Amino acid sequence: MKEISAERLEIQQKIKEKIRTENSIVKQKPLAFVETYGCALNENDSEKLCGMLEDMGYGFCDRADAADLVIFNTCAVRENAELKVLGNLGKLKPVKKERPDLLIGVCGCMMQQAHIKEQIQKKYKHIDMVFGTHALYKFPEILDSARMGQKVFSTEDSEGEIAEGLSVKRESFPLAKVSVMFGCNNFCSYCIVPYVRGRERSRSPENILAEVSALAKEGFKEVMLLGQNVNSYGNDLAGDGTSFAQLLKDVAKIDGIERIRFMTSHPKDISDELIDAIASEPKVCKQLHLPVQSGSDKVLHDMNRKYTRSEYLSKVEAVRKKVPDIVLSTDIIVGFPTETNEDFEDTISLLREVRFDTVYSFIYSPRVGTPAAKMPMALDEKEIHQNFEKMLSVQNEISREKNEAYPGSIQKVLVEGLSKTNPEFVTGRTDGGKIVNMKGNEELTGEIVEARITDCKTWSLTGEIIQR
Ligand code: 5AD
Ligand code: SF4
Repeated sequence: MKEISAERLEIQQKIKEKIRTENSIVKQKPLAFVETYGCALNENDSEKLCGMLEDMGYGFCDRADAADLVIFNTCAVRENAELKVLGNLGKLKPVKKERPDLLIGVCGCMMQQAHIKEQIQKKYKHIDMVFGTHALYKFPEILDSARMGQKVFSTEDSEGEIAEGLSVKRESFPLAKVSVMFGCNNFCSYCIVPYVRGRERSRSPENILAEVSALAKEGFKEVMLLGQNVNSYGNDLAGDGTSFAQLLKDVAKIDGIERIRFMTSHPKDISDELIDAIASEPKVCKQLHLPVQSGSDKVLHDMNRKYTRSEYLSKVEAVRKKVPDIVLSTDIIVGFPTETNEDFEDTISLLREVRFDTVYSFIYSPRVGTPAAKMPMALDEKEIHQNFEKMLSVQNEISREKNEAYPGSIQKVLVEGLSKTNPEFVTGRTDGGKIVNMKGNEELTGEIVEARITDCKTWSLTGEIIQR
């Protein structure tokens, strides 16, 4: 994979230093507000934006109307996320009128769509910077132009390059997100990701291992390896043929890293090698997110998912055979255009058959330019909402029953910090990724403790620490 050259990154470095000097002579440190929509990959991109902002001498605040610079890092996967961004941009219009010095930027997946770019250009004239996912590394240059009063539109398509070595500001200690690949080649018929994120590009194993080693030295205990489809990690590399399973094993060799999770796996190409790595490598968490999307063969075909219901069930069986205590989660789309009530019942029966621990469910949202957006709808909105509610109630009961198996057991929990709702409690996760709330103080953050589980809810467990 081609990386962005050192010379091009050096230009950005120089601009960062220039802005840092400018910011150091103003009386008050300028404040940035960065809001992220969408998935963990987007969150990781925002951590890079914040890393660059910190290098340029910006501080941070948590309200758009108190900031000198506002950035929305957007998501295009569903319409409701887009509407939220457009609404929030609209709200900034009077703020910009009152404070013309306020700089406003929008970036991320939404900005890689031609119709959105056009809409922003025509109707949101108070925006100073528009840049897409491929221009992230050029943020210092974009910001510099905006600070000099120029409007910037940088939404070109990718040349398939990867920017290494960007600063990353992580607020998630002791957990760290590490993107291992970008883009997707699958073209599921409903999904915008391949259009806005481009083709699959894997980072080299050396760069990933160097990043994780540095995180371990900083004291991070858990890494989440991210990609739209981690099973095809490395397929585009002309390197030594490192597979994702091999990458997991190599990351596991890094001292100090205690837990490794990853997302997302595509059921069609989850390999025996990967299942074996989960089974045999103690640091790889016994947790798997395996999006099924639908339980109907007809719908799976129309979605271009490239597996059948029975092939999916065989994969789950293979995983459970080797890793009996695996915690399984999935994604479901309700109301895909060709989904009838009968197809929907196939999804319900699949949920009952597999008994996932957690299901992330979405109502289908047509995306401009995807094949599914041109398909006629089998069900009306009311029926789709009824089905969605039914799915939630079926799954909530299963999730609750799954959690009921935990009280009485002893679990190793990595403490992530104080509970947001009760300052006498800390919160953390089991190896399988279940949230556990326990009495304790902030000093436990980053420690793996042994907890006896005393109670459970649909979404979390309660426990008491028995050993640090
Ligand atoms: N509408 C609804 N849900 C979608 N997803 C992706 N595209 C759409 C869409 N157009 C869901 C899928 C995917 C998850 C990240 O988002 O379930 O796995
Ligand atoms: Fe979208 Fe399918 Fe790629 Fe996932 S695998 S990002 S759903 S196209």
